[in-house]
Amino acid sequence: MKSYITTPIYYVNGSPHIGHAFTSVMADILKRNRVAIGYELLLSTGVDEHGQKNQEAAADLGMEIKDYLDMRGKEFRAVFDMLDVSYDYFVRTSREGHKTAVAGMEQTIFDKDLIVKKQYTGTYCKGCEEFKRESDLTEDGQCPLHPTMKVEQTDETNYFLKMEPFRERLLQHIADNPDFVQPQAFRNELKQMLAEPLEDLCISRPKTRVTLGVDLPFDPDFVTYVWFDALANYLTNVGWPDEGYADWWATCEHLIGKDILKPHGVYWPIMLMAAGIPLPKKLSVHSHWVGAGGVKMSKSIGNVVDPIEIVDTLGADALRWYLARHMRSDSDSQISVDFIKQTYNSELGNKIGNLLSRAAKFSKSRFDGKVPAAGPLSAEDEAIRAAVAEAVKGFGAWIDLPDIPHNLQKVITVCDDMNTYFAEQAPWELIKNPETEERCRTVIYVTLDCLRLVFEALRQVIPTSADRALAMLNAPVSEDKAWKPALDVLGQETDLGEIENLFPRAQ
Ligand code: MSP
Repeated sequence: MKSYITTPIYYVNGSPHIGHAFTSVMADILKRNRVAIGYELLLSTGVDEHGQKNQEAAADLGMEIKDYLDMRGKEFRAVFDMLDVSYDYFVRTSREGHKTAVAGMEQTIFDKDLIVKKQYTGTYCKGCEEFKRESDLTEDGQCPLHPTMKVEQTDETNYFLKMEPFRERLLQHIADNPDFVQPQAFRNELKQMLAEPLEDLCISRPKTRVTLGVDLPFDPDFVTYVWFDALANYLTNVGWPDEGYADWWATCEHLIGKDILKPHGVYWPIMLMAAGIPLPKKLSVHSHWVGAGGVKMSKSIGNVVDPIEIVDTLGADALRWYLARHMRSDSDSQISVDFIKQTYNSELGNKIGNLLSRAAKFSKSRFDGKVPAAGPLSAEDEAIRAAVAEAVKGFGAWIDLPDIPHNLQKVITVCDDMNTYFAEQAPWELIKNPETEERCRTVIYVTLDCLRLVFEALRQVIPTSADRALAMLNAPVSEDKAWKPALDVLGQETDLGEIENLFPRAQ
């Protein structure tokens, strides 16, 4: 069974930010989940290298375009590597094979008479790389998403893709496939976008204005509109138009932010219909991260969260944990360096890492460094084991984006229960009396085995820390077969590994 997950490809007019880190980490979590349950995965992420704003960013630094793109490509890749994003394919739209395929797609659509050339006068937002209607702009005539970039007036001849002939068909597709856009709120938003007749989509830019792009195959005075070129990456990554792409393509799920629903939900399906290619399986849409108090992040306010800084100070898993645990699926979520630090200390440190360290150190000192053998189980033991098995169950099956925070809430709740169990059973008291020593062994075994199961599940979210925890328990996970959450896997009387502090307290 295959599954192909894509992230948007990111503009390289600046350094990678938290929004980029977020989508790629979520895609990675979905990948790890599906690999764990036996799927063959392809995860693509990468960079969108063409268009006016990338071109201008290179010029601003006085760099040759190729050097500039190479530099940014390395920078994005390094951040994803640092964040343990296990991408299978890193997209660069400057790749020759991609450019040839984009031109091929345009020629196919052109040959069907679905592309027309005409004069267009209008307002352009470089931030969105989109033409805007007056109703899209703020009262003072700026783009609400990029108010500081200043829209430009253009009066140009360009090539346009006819959109209206496909609108009804797309609405029908959405009606027939309730899962095509998720969550529901964004499905409704997309239906709203398709409620009125669609204007033709401008798919070119004159070279007098933009040179960084794919040449139009039928007119060398123009380059391809950056969105047309960028969207096509999802197909060119899997080798389209060559044979063999279809199996992956049929399973394709696009992860996207809410601001790019229109290109993915309107332009892309219609481009595909025009070219005679099936639509992707699903669009999984997420909301945005904003600063504390719901304020938009900006350099001038000083509330920007830099992913590299977090990885350097708290580690990749602190950031992965925060993003995964605290995203909300249909409204914006808040982030700040303090929030990340607090969550890291209180959840990863106090609730999870601390319990592991206490139980493992206890075994080291009292049971000769071994996992003790359990005696008969009490009702309390059975209850906590059942609660842990239930809490991690979600990670043993296919998860979608909104399931990630939902499942992690269950994990944290059961970690609270485990801490309560440990405190109430008080193994440090039980060990004092030979009559209760067996009971002590049992409590420690139950605690360590429950932690083992929690960390097996958390390999999907915080893989490095989870593997370190499993190494301490001397319970590595075999990658050979599909993972099934199960109790009693931890070997009794086996040696524990080296005990380390998994989540040292951050000040
Ligand atoms: N290049 C286009 C995408 C082309 S895909 C064929 C683009 N790039 S982008 O760099 O501007 O943004 C990429 C993604 O980052 C989008 O999904 C966007 O929603 C996401 N984010 C940007 N800021 C964000 C937050 N503050 N929070 C979460 N995600 C955000 O658009």
